[in-house]
Amino acid sequence: MKIGIYPGTFDPITLGHLDIIKRSLKLVDRLIIAVARDSHKHPPFFDALERREMISESLADLGLGIEVEIFNSLLVDYAREKKATVIFRGLRAVSDFEYEFQMALMNKKMAPEVEGVFFAPSQSYVYLSSSLVKEVAALGGDVSDFVTPAVEKKLKKRFLKKIDD
Ligand code: COA
Repeated sequence: MKIGIYPGTFDPITLGHLDIIKRSLKLVDRLIIAVARDSHKHPPFFDALERREMISESLADLGLGIEVEIFNSLLVDYAREKKATVIFRGLRAVSDFEYEFQMALMNKKMAPEVEGVFFAPSQSYVYLSSSLVKEVAALGGDVSDFVTPAVEKKLKKRFLKKIDD
């Protein structure tokens, strides 16, 4: 059985992430969506449980073969623990390349048996990012073209609460 991991912060999951998930599923028997508890960039806006829940709700139509888990360790250690042989990531633009390239090489050095596979995004998602989605939602914009209804609902609820506070 071929097991793959798609890791990320998913703060929150977008349709761009879902695109990568659907395409990854064609290459493995089991796909683990690995939600990093923390982010090195900035503290996540949603906590890890909320992010996991939004992913699970967004995957409802995709069926069997996917698991969503939170991890808090080195990605390669987690991959070994799960007996995964491939790590999937999406590359949106040249600006992603240096960061992804460094991570992939570091991971390869630490776990040569795990392959890194990169997907070019579908054209409609090239510009999409979780930060931009949050910014649009915070200012009351329509994010329904960028995220699933479950995520849209959660964003609305969170930002309405902020306005009330
Ligand atoms: N479509 C839309 N957006 C995409 C995308 C796609 N296909 N692919 C990436 N993105 C965006 C996300 O929306 C996100 O946007 P943001 O920066 O505005 O938040 C950004 O690209 C990247 O986020 P995400 O895909 O969630 O992943 P990440 O870069 O936060 O994940 C980990 C990084 C978790 C994989 C990495 O930190 C890690 O492996 N951590 C574990 C610890 C470890 O092993 N460290 C050593 C690594 S060598």
